[in-house]
Amino acid sequence: MTRHFLDLDQVPAEELRHILNRSAEIKAARDGKPKLFPDENRALDSKVVALIFEKPSTRTRISFDVGIRQMGGETMVLSGSELQLGHGESVGDTARVLSRFVDAIMIRTFQPETLEEMAECATVPVINGLTNRTHPCQIMADVMTFEEKKGPIEGAKVVWAGDGNNVFASFAQASAQFGFDLVFAGPETLDPDAGVVAKARSEGAAISVERDPFKAVDGADAVVTDAWLSMHDDVSARDRRHNQLKPYQVTEELMAHAKADAIFMHCLPAHREEEVTSAVFDGPQSVVFDEAENRLHVQKGILRWCLGAL
Ligand code: CP
Ligand code: NVA
Repeated sequence: MTRHFLDLDQVPAEELRHILNRSAEIKAARDGKPKLFPDENRALDSKVVALIFEKPSTRTRISFDVGIRQMGGETMVLSGSELQLGHGESVGDTARVLSRFVDAIMIRTFQPETLEEMAECATVPVINGLTNRTHPCQIMADVMTFEEKKGPIEGAKVVWAGDGNNVFASFAQASAQFGFDLVFAGPETLDPDAGVVAKARSEGAAISVERDPFKAVDGADAVVTDAWLSMHDDVSARDRRHNQLKPYQVTEELMAHAKADAIFMHCLPAHREEEVTSAVFDGPQSVVFDEAENRLHVQKGILRWCLGAL
């Protein structure tokens, strides 16, 4: 069966854990530690991966591209508009054709249905590089980063301050899979997708909502935020959203209400003095660039898992 990596609730928890363990070993090998995978540099030898972007990207694009090359594979980075996909060819036909040429497909797109149709029609693995609804590769890197800094995430308290967006949705799914407590602190108008939260809860996620950001971060091991306006959001809503989200800005004062050794996380790109102050972003609790680096390592694990090489 083709192994897609579409969402964190689509892959069994033990497989996610396996990917994380292997990714840590891949990272350690790169740092000169003993190689547990003798073929570390050739796992994708003669494989070609299509990387399709219908939205901008710095980290996802470069970390996938570099990671595949480091494993001996080749990449094609494509924008939706340069494919016939952007000019009327169906997603399904695009998937069928690409499957005749490449060994895997990573796609960043708008509607989750596009990703789903790609996966249904492709005969090679499809990886979710972000949709309007979720961003699973990011949260795999975030769990890896959390555990590097603080030990097992199981039983930890992670507080999300801000917009209930696609990155939060993957945290909600991760809460069920990895067994941590997740608190959403944001305005009711920007609550997360109710369906995603209900499904995650039904699968064991411990998700609570606290409108007071200071109460929310009490006892937090990690405080997380993201842009107040995502790529798919209507720019004309910017001022209204900013006014609603301002009370949830991550400041030094807010961090002072979390555990003394709490970490600050952000998937990036960040907007300093909007969702987070520079003092926090550049401060000693911030692990944002480790999160970015871990995209590289964890996606190597994901690709290898998809291709049966883990
Ligand atoms: N965090 C993340 O996915 O960044 P990019 O949008 O730059 O890929
Ligand atoms: N929520 C953001 C994440 C960017 C990586 C967006 O979708 O634009």
